[in-house]
Amino acid sequence: MANDAEKEVAAQASVKYVKDGQIVGLGTGSTATVAIRLIGERVRAGLKIRGIPTSIASRDLASQLGIPLTNFEEVQEIDVTIDGADEFDPALNLIKGGGGAMLREKIVASASRQLVIVTDSSKQVRMLGKFPVPVEVIGFAERLIAKKISDLGAKVVQRQDGSGRPYLTDEKHHILDCHFGQIPDPAALGRTLSEMPGVVEHGLFVGMTSVVLMAKAGDVEEFRRGG
Ligand code: 5RP
Repeated sequence: MANDAEKEVAAQASVKYVKDGQIVGLGTGSTATVAIRLIGERVRAGLKIRGIPTSIASRDLASQLGIPLTNFEEVQEIDVTIDGADEFDPALNLIKGGGGAMLREKIVASASRQLVIVTDSSKQVRMLGKFPVPVEVIGFAERLIAKKISDLGAKVVQRQDGSGRPYLTDEKHHILDCHFGQIPDPAALGRTLSEMPGVVEHGLFVGMTSVVLMAKAGDVEEFRRGG
């Protein structure tokens, strides 16, 4: 089954996690986009929720679909967030940020009672690290941080936009895509990255996921933390 078809199946499986009256975190990326469209259909059919988007792109999409939005000025707790991932391991640790939104995604995830991750089957790995870890940095510190991360053994690549300029996140920071290869201890690496002055956030999500809904050949496998 093609990845796009699996993304659709996984997103459909997430719909049951969204209930009337809830505050819902709206993820970013192609799989989260399918989920947002499905939530939009349910809102048009009468579902009453308020969404907190994890990116400008998801905010714009949700607005177009007529999903009422809120923000952290109004609410500080999210019932459930539906988001995608670039990789997940057996402990449901994630690499996120392929779409560049991991800063807001992690903030929204941290405020969520439930984090539901929707993926196709290509995202399942035994150990994180095939996908580069995106590290969001302040431009001023970029070269310094790139050197420190290279010294840890990673190949570090500045993410660029289509015209060869640094890719800018929604918060106007740069991203370093850091190829570590296998990451045996994602929590320790995450702490090391977070301790570097000038690092705003990184794409290792450790101990945050409640459930992964992974589509595989038309079926959905549910992985629960500790289960
Ligand atoms: C964006 C993300 C996405 O959730 C991740 O890149 C997966 O995207 P897709 O569903 O398009 O494969 O973390 O920052």
